[in-house]
Amino acid sequence: MTLRLIEGGRSSGDAPGLLIHGASQVATLAGGIRRGDAQGDVALLDGDDVGGPGSAAAPVVAIWDGLVVGVGPRDQVELGVERGGMPLARFARLDADGGVVTPGLVDPHTHLLFAGSRAHELVLRQRGAGYLEILEAGGGILSTVAATREASEEELAAHGRLWLDEMLRHGVTTVEAKSGYGLDLATELRLLQVAHDLGKEGPIDVLPTFLGAHAVPPEYRARPNGTEAYVRSVIDEQLPGVAAQGRARSCDVFCEHGVFTADQSRRILEAAGGYGMSLRLHADELAPSGGAELAADLGAVSADHLHAPSDQGVDAMSRAAAAGQPTVATLLPGTTWFLMAEGAAPARRFIDAGVPVALGTDFNPGTSPNPNLPLVMTVACLEMRLSPEEALVGTTVNAAHAAGVGDLAGALEPGKLGDVVIWRARTVGELPYWVGADLVDVVVKRGRIVYRRAD
Ligand code: NIG
Ligand code: FE
Repeated sequence: MTLRLIEGGRSSGDAPGLLIHGASQVATLAGGIRRGDAQGDVALLDGDDVGGPGSAAAPVVAIWDGLVVGVGPRDQVELGVERGGMPLARFARLDADGGVVTPGLVDPHTHLLFAGSRAHELVLRQRGAGYLEILEAGGGILSTVAATREASEEELAAHGRLWLDEMLRHGVTTVEAKSGYGLDLATELRLLQVAHDLGKEGPIDVLPTFLGAHAVPPEYRARPNGTEAYVRSVIDEQLPGVAAQGRARSCDVFCEHGVFTADQSRRILEAAGGYGMSLRLHADELAPSGGAELAADLGAVSADHLHAPSDQGVDAMSRAAAAGQPTVATLLPGTTWFLMAEGAAPARRFIDAGVPVALGTDFNPGTSPNPNLPLVMTVACLEMRLSPEEALVGTTVNAAHAAGVGDLAGALEPGKLGDVVIWRARTVGELPYWVGADLVDVVVKRGRIVYRRAD
């Protein structure tokens, strides 16, 4: 049985409301996207400061019909919901038992759906093989493409369910999910459809992204000018098909030396923008390749990886953010770690430059077989020197904006989704501190308890 079946956990029948009380701290993350000095502002309500989790002024979260309707001192929230026509008697109670309460985490960068195993690549890389070298030799992404083309919709869905359940147990309630292991129209459509269907099935919301330009597939590699021919097929064949299917919300490209150039990425993303998709980019992951500049210039919602941006790239993203059109820097430190790469993405430079920073797992079979977003927060603190609060902003409110759902998710404020995590921790600072620990006690999605730790 999968965790997905543990649902409907309200304690009082079909009450439309849920009142979460007894928190040591509620990190609301209210107030919109964070950048610069505000990167670490988790908008904290502290129960201990007002007489403890049981006091009348202790912070609570009220959810009605799946949406947050009140956050703040218990007496005020209770009065507010009654006055708003939501009788207190119709709220089930959920005791946080002295734990920290946060919004459900948002993972803004995953390659959720794939088939086959790449476990052996870890050993190849330990022996010195480079990531792009393995890809050039027909392994890497291409070996996943071969396995994924063979996989049925049911097999892909079963794989997706398994890993979504794992993400849920780590406090994640919204996931961006890229295609990109088909590299032909039929398989790309299958991946996007399965991602969409898994989101409908719930409880996690899944946001599909089209990543047809993830690598050049074998049938094009054999041709002269194969990369250019494949770029044209992405623009002329795949994108119209994907747009007609209507499942992909965004389009992404792997812009990197030896994969797709900034110019090719621009042409693909401009075409995608013409179909109304929002834009994101694998930018400057291994070397500067004009990715950050391009993402800012195109008004992309997110530029991801950014391990090696150029100075001009950071400046371009800084100017876009200052002009009120931020492209979120979605940093993926778990990938850097798993690739055993030197250094870290320059998170502090982005923060100092006023660029909003988000964090994602980059869950994928090659560079980050890691579904654990809290662990990524830990790596961000250790390798990029983010504070725990900056890391929490990066996996909630800023991640929601990077994923294109900043108006819905990532914060506990009236009108947003009732997506909540209760943690076995007393302070926000403890969340990334307990390395790899399983701190999630309860996950609430749209006002329903969808996961509860077995005692
Ligand atoms: O984000 N860099 C490109 N795509 C993925 C890796 C995909 C793979 O190796 O299968 C990434 O790291
Ligand atoms: Fe990726």
